[in-house]
Amino acid sequence: MSDEKIMNSDIMISSESIQSRIKELGKQITEDYKGKKIVVIGVLTGAYVFCADLLREIKVPVELLEFVSVSSYGDSTESSGNVRMYLDLKRDIKDKHILIIEDIVDTGLTLHSLMEIFERRHPASIKLASLLHKPAKSKHKIDIDYLGFTIEDKFVYGYGLDLFGTARELPHIAIYNGEPKK
Ligand code: PRP
Repeated sequence: MSDEKIMNSDIMISSESIQSRIKELGKQITEDYKGKKIVVIGVLTGAYVFCADLLREIKVPVELLEFVSVSSYGDSTESSGNVRMYLDLKRDIKDKHILIIEDIVDTGLTLHSLMEIFERRHPASIKLASLLHKPAKSKHKIDIDYLGFTIEDKFVYGYGLDLFGTARELPHIAIYNGEPKK
C-alpha cells in the first residue's frame, strides 16, 4: 500500500500504542508461564503480524509454533456465521500448554469453534491472546486471557487485518468509514 494511503487512513490505534501494549502483554505472558514451555497457535490470516511481534516479547521457550487457517468473513465486512477450517495443526497438542494468538474477537464464533476443536485434543491448558475485542457484536462468551485493546463497533483494518483483502501491512489499526460490503 502507498504512503499516501497510509497517511490518509483514519487511525484508531497507532503503531506506537500497539507496540507498547505488546511489550506489556509479553511481560505478563512470560511471568504467567515461568518454568513452562508453550505451544503457540496463530490464527491466520489476520493474526500473523501480532503473532510475530508478540512472540518476540515472550521470554519462555516456545516448543512449537503452528498456524491454523479459518475464515468467517470472506471478503465481506460482516461475519458469515460459519467457520471454515482450511489448515489444521500438523502436530499433536495433547498435554501441551497452548497459547492461541488471534487478531480480533468479534462475534466470538471463530474462537468458540476453535476452542471446541482444540479442547477435544486434551491439551494441558489453553489460553488466548487477542489484540482486539469488539464486545458490541459478541454472540459467544470468550475469555480473553491477554487482551490488547477493547474497541468500539467499527470495521477496522491494518496490522494484519484486511480491508477487502488488502492493507494488512499497515503498521496501525485504521477505521473503514466506507459503505459496508455484503
Ligand atoms: C477475522 C479475525 C478473526 C475472526 C473474528 O478473520 O481474524 O479470526 O474474523 O471474528 P469472529 O469473532 O466474529 O469469529 P477472517 O474470517 O476475516 O479471516 P482472516 O483473518 O483471514 O482475514
